[in-house]
Amino acid sequence: MKGIVLAGGTAKRLYPVTKACGKSLLPLYDKPLVYYPLSVLLRAGIRDILIIVPAGLVTPFADLFADGSAFGVSITYLEQESPRGIAEALILGRDFIGEDRVCLVLGDNIIYGSALDLSLRQAAARQEGAVVFAYPVADPRPFGVIELDAAGRPLSLEEKPAQPRSHYIVPGIYFYDCQAPQLAASLRPSRRGELEITDLNRLYLQQGKLQAIPLDRSLGWHDAGTADSLLDAACAVRDAQRSSGKIIACLEEIAYHQGWIDTAALQRSGQMLQDAAYGRYLLQLASDRKGKTGKSNICR
Ligand code: G1P
Repeated sequence: MKGIVLAGGTAKRLYPVTKACGKSLLPLYDKPLVYYPLSVLLRAGIRDILIIVPAGLVTPFADLFADGSAFGVSITYLEQESPRGIAEALILGRDFIGEDRVCLVLGDNIIYGSALDLSLRQAAARQEGAVVFAYPVADPRPFGVIELDAAGRPLSLEEKPAQPRSHYIVPGIYFYDCQAPQLAASLRPSRRGELEITDLNRLYLQQGKLQAIPLDRSLGWHDAGTADSLLDAACAVRDAQRSSGKIIACLEEIAYHQGWIDTAALQRSGQMLQDAAYGRYLLQLASDRKGKTGKSNICR
């Protein structure tokens, strides 16, 4: 399975902070925002990754992740010239996806908690059609809203409805079969002028090929689309990390847990970042693990 992080877009709702650097390079507490969606792909076991970045910004993203080998994955980059909506990511990524299935994650979605792994495994196991998640929020109106029947099957999908039919929103993690680029290319722009991911998901729903997985309420989910939600998400991550003593979206730790890098690689990354708490955390992890086969102490 392939993975795409959509870190493009103009993020005008966050101007002027995003004018020069886009949204995904902004700090979300102790690491750039893009770490969080990337961590979801790694947790899903996906190692072949495309990051779609705003025009002119390949260099800073490549400065962060290079070819991905520090995390045991392969990362390539593609510029999005003039953003036309989330579903465009699948059109831009058509050659990269080829005949494979793909998981698309949005560059401004932050999701964490140990219960996520099971849901990701369930979604990744599905061979055909599309899988989305359903997450309950107090005010679903700014998001894609999904209505489920008593058995949890999807009934309807609406993008930013004024009168939502449910409290379940669809977070920015989508699993598709290889039909997705072709279906995305058939979409027409919405009233806000975008190729809506909700319209693509509705095509799968109409074909009876959309599965929805309700996410555990214990998970933290944030969409960092506005200045307030960005700050709220940063505070939530800080609080969760402080109380657990563990770092959320620590890519090297996830790669280590997946068996993709060894203790020496963990130590090398830690040494490079040792002036920061993130680096010292990696060094601690490496020294805890040296010669040990004990129980995982992981928090992602
Ligand atoms: C987008 C999607 C929406 C989804 C949300 C998750 O909203 O269009 O369906 O629920 O991401 O963050 P946007 O960021 O375009 O407002």
